[in-house]
Amino acid sequence: MKYLITGGNGQLGSALKNILPKEECLFTDVGELDVTDREAVLEMVEKEKPEYVLHCAALTNVDGCETNIELADKINHLSVEYFAEACNKVGATLFYISTDYVFDGEATSPYGVEKKPDPKSVYGKTKLAGEEAAKQAKKYYIFRTSWVYGEGNNFVRTMLKLSETMGEIKVVGDQFGRPTYALDLAKGMKEAIEKKIPYRDYHYQNSGETISWAQFASEIFEIAGKNTKVIPISTKEYLEMNAEKQVASRPHYSVLETSKLEQIGINLPDWKSSLEKYLVN
Ligand SMILES: NC(=O)c1ccc[n+]([C@@H]2O[C@H](COP(=O)([O-])OP(=O)(O)OC[C@H]3O[C@@H](n4cnc5c(N)ncnc54)[C@H](OP(=O)(O)O)[C@@H]3O)[C@@H](O)[C@H]2O)c1
Repeated sequence: MKYLITGGNGQLGSALKNILPKEECLFTDVGELDVTDREAVLEMVEKEKPEYVLHCAALTNVDGCETNIELADKINHLSVEYFAEACNKVGATLFYISTDYVFDGEATSPYGVEKKPDPKSVYGKTKLAGEEAAKQAKKYYIFRTSWVYGEGNNFVRTMLKLSETMGEIKVVGDQFGRPTYALDLAKGMKEAIEKKIPYRDYHYQNSGETISWAQFASEIFEIAGKNTKVIPISTKEYLEMNAEKQVASRPHYSVLETSKLEQIGINLPDWKSSLEKYLVN
């Protein structure tokens, strides 16, 4: 067994399913392996002896994390400790996926890998603790990424669904970043493994211009041929509209500096061409 994958039914897990050789993979999701169960994690890793654990399971509902702090910590952080321990026992490499939410989100230029993290949400705090746990593995990769879309629930799908019934949609226009196609990220992980790049943390984000969520929505509608109008609103207006919900603090700036992977020769496609591929398929 070469790859043991967790969160196999999620966006990234599904993308990995499309590109990794089936016979070399064991895909699991919560039904096969609950990553919060330390004994189960140790038992499966010791039994399967993978070369790589691609740990994609996470609690990604950022608002949900605010009200489920214990569960968020178990899935996003403690599970990584279990995998680091298990990987060390069998000599496997742990591949952990993290997020721009580990930063304060207030920068005005791209976050370098070495920039000091300062998470403002439960999701960001638990993912940062997960990174620290991943570093307990003797062999590890950490890829921080952002605004991921693929198979499953995501911003692109939500916008397309809303456009079926709404002529205009209010979307936040003062939070900026770059989207990342899950299939590109999966390919980047595979490339990193094949190239045997040095064990450490990296930033993986699709390249291209920095945009707001509102601009991203406009681009989605343009490529998909929808007439829905996008009305940019401020984060403040968005929070007022959702006053009854417990909304997590969102980064105003989510652009990651990706030169470490670029220098190694890992492909970081332009987000616009990847979005076109995603919407055309
Ligand atoms: N999505 C983004 O925008 C984004 C941005 C930056 C970083 N990331 C990171 O990228 C990685 C992959 O994200 P994704 O978008 O593929 O997430 P996703 O679509 O939410 O998939 C996560 C998967 O983990 C599963 N899971 C949850 N709890 C579990 C448990 N206790 N045991 C086993 N599996 C469990 C989920 O199952 P259920 O659906 O049944 O709960 C789901 O299938 C995560 O580490 C995430 O933090 C994502």
